[in-house]
Amino acid sequence: MKNIVVFTGAGISAESGLSTFRDSDGLWEKYSVEEICTHEAWERNPQLLVDFYNARRRDTLKAQPNAAHLAIAELQKKIPTTRIITQNVDDLHERAGAINVIHLHGEITKLRSSINETATVSLNGWEQHYGDRHPDGSLLRPYIVFFGEGVPYFTAACDIASTADIMIVVGTSLNVYPAASLLQYVPKKTQIYLIDPGQPAFNPLTPNITHIRKKATEGVPQVVENILNNAAERKL
Ligand code: OAD
Repeated sequence: MKNIVVFTGAGISAESGLSTFRDSDGLWEKYSVEEICTHEAWERNPQLLVDFYNARRRDTLKAQPNAAHLAIAELQKKIPTTRIITQNVDDLHERAGAINVIHLHGEITKLRSSINETATVSLNGWEQHYGDRHPDGSLLRPYIVFFGEGVPYFTAACDIASTADIMIVVGTSLNVYPAASLLQYVPKKTQIYLIDPGQPAFNPLTPNITHIRKKATEGVPQVVENILNNAAERKL
């Protein structure tokens, strides 16, 4: 059975009603990333960050997985070697039925200790109250990997990418590092399907990359169906 690695970004959740970051109507067009998503911003105005991520959490809880999340979860059920790595902090992959999802940039449904990046706690509902503390005594902060911080699961993600026979990349501008460099860790022979209606910043010299200029809910089910058909014909 082949190893399939799925790597997703904000675009996969766009048709579930969640904003992307760098599209013309994206979050970083409306808000300054320096004011929201850095450690300095947390030090300067933590209430602003708490409010921002409370609003994102409320949107996430209202959103439902779409046909792309569902197709990926189905793929994983039928080909259990499928691994999912996401830059998204929403839980739509999981709510579609996917398991063992690696979240490179954190998870909106959790908070974390401000002194230990992997000490997380789940939050009930949408609202974080600023001032609540982790059992280790430190202030709780949103479980979001801020710009300039290390990406705790990146090495694990690279190990997974390096075993890929097929990689499906969905809805990411490939602008944020180190996440975007995951494509460099796949073996040269790996077939990469990039599903994104825009123009992600991939290296055109990447071997075996096919850019499918479709929205996630159209392109992902088609690619998944092709992979499953090939598997059924014992080509996988
Ligand atoms: P971006 O907002 O940078 O890119 C979104 C991508 O989704 C673009 O390439 C769009 O063309 C594409 N897109 C839009 N609608 C789509 C649809 N219906 N179907 C498929 N693709 C669609 O988002 P990311 O690349 O995920 O980090 O951004 C990476 C990181 O930057 C995020 O994880 C976040 C952000 O700052 C943190 O917050 C730490």
